[in-house]
Amino acid sequence: MSDLVFTVQPGGCLSGDFRVPGDKSISHRSMILGSIAQGTTTVEGFLEGEDSLATLMAFRAMGVEIDDVVNGKTTVKGVGLHGLREPSAPLYLGNSGTSMRLLCGLLAAQNFPSVLTGDESLSGRPMKRVTSPLTEMGANIVLQDGGVAPIEISAGKLHPIIYELPVASAQIKSCLLLASLYTDPKDGNSEIMEPAPCRDHTERMLRGFGYEVGTEGARISISGGGTLNACHIDVPADISSAAFFMVGASICEGSDILLRHVGINPTRTGVITILQAMGADITLENVREVGGEPVADIRVKYAPLKGINIPVDQVPLAIDEFPALFIAAACAQGTTVLSEAQELRVKESDRIQVMADGLAELGVKNSVREDGIVIEGGEIGGGEVNSHGDHRIAMAFSMAALKASSPIRIHDCHNVATSFPGFSDLARNAGINLQSAEE
Ligand code: S3P
Repeated sequence: MSDLVFTVQPGGCLSGDFRVPGDKSISHRSMILGSIAQGTTTVEGFLEGEDSLATLMAFRAMGVEIDDVVNGKTTVKGVGLHGLREPSAPLYLGNSGTSMRLLCGLLAAQNFPSVLTGDESLSGRPMKRVTSPLTEMGANIVLQDGGVAPIEISAGKLHPIIYELPVASAQIKSCLLLASLYTDPKDGNSEIMEPAPCRDHTERMLRGFGYEVGTEGARISISGGGTLNACHIDVPADISSAAFFMVGASICEGSDILLRHVGINPTRTGVITILQAMGADITLENVREVGGEPVADIRVKYAPLKGINIPVDQVPLAIDEFPALFIAAACAQGTTVLSEAQELRVKESDRIQVMADGLAELGVKNSVREDGIVIEGGEIGGGEVNSHGDHRIAMAFSMAALKASSPIRIHDCHNVATSFPGFSDLARNAGINLQSAEE
């Protein structure tokens, strides 16, 4: 396959008033819950990226009528909890861990078999974290050696689970919540305990569909036997996509941007807390609630950053934003230390090592630890970095070029389309001199 290379010239600053694409997590869930609801769910702001479209296609393959997405709008004709049909072929989920792990929970409870497959990156990611508790619930699932996809699921009858999540993972939590919808209410509730708060979009959206979910501190409880009723979902802009521009504007003198309609669910705002602790000038305007999710317009202006010890309680709340935050750390004065972030090693790439290699290539001193990294802020040079097919790493290094002394060329950028279609155009309009070319 050809290599999509971003070549980013140094200099410039960010300005403008814009809206980044829809939240990926919420977009996935709109397809999943809309499909198993009664009635027609309307969605606006849907992320037309490869990951959320993989979820959409999977439900079409199981007989759900879903309109083509036009300008972020679509409708899902829900088939009810028991209306999905056996897909005629394995469900291919591309690069999307969220699709695979959430669907695994839903499909383990169906009365038909299914197979879940993905691309090379997804086929190397750990799946036992979802299949072990599902097996405990009575699911019949076979993984490949090493605990990876393809995942082969046979029909199963599930019972509730009391489960302490071994990691603060919304994917595991959501997988188990979806599986629990299919348990017999006479068998009691499922109860899931999270070691630290992690994104709660599934709980919020289930409630939006009229399904009862209990949350008491770190314990989430749900029982089977209910019904989801179709609703309208307004997907806010993705804070994880906005994060690149928050960092870009923070590091670059003269920058001033307004990011519109961004989701600021408190389980996702670690990036704002961390950047503010580093000295960033970020303000939330027009804070409001849209369909059960808090939303705001976010203004970011340049401010000199300083290195910090990243508070460990912020790690799950900023889990997807570390590639961008590492660039902020590289531009800050002083040292930034990240620990208790071993989860970064099993994302779309090993984000600690791949970022460390890229930073080193640009002359940024850093040292890798098993559970994190130490980054010495200072000058950024140019050079050739490899994103290893990781969308967020490609976009993070695009921002680094704003402060680099010579051009940065970023390899293997195809997967930017998984979460941020139109990234290079938006980046150019905001003031980044980025050329994208197949080589
Ligand atoms: C997600 C949960 C997180 C996050 C991923 C999306 C979700 O993964 O990294 O991009 O939509 O539930 P983990 O649950 O593995 O932390």
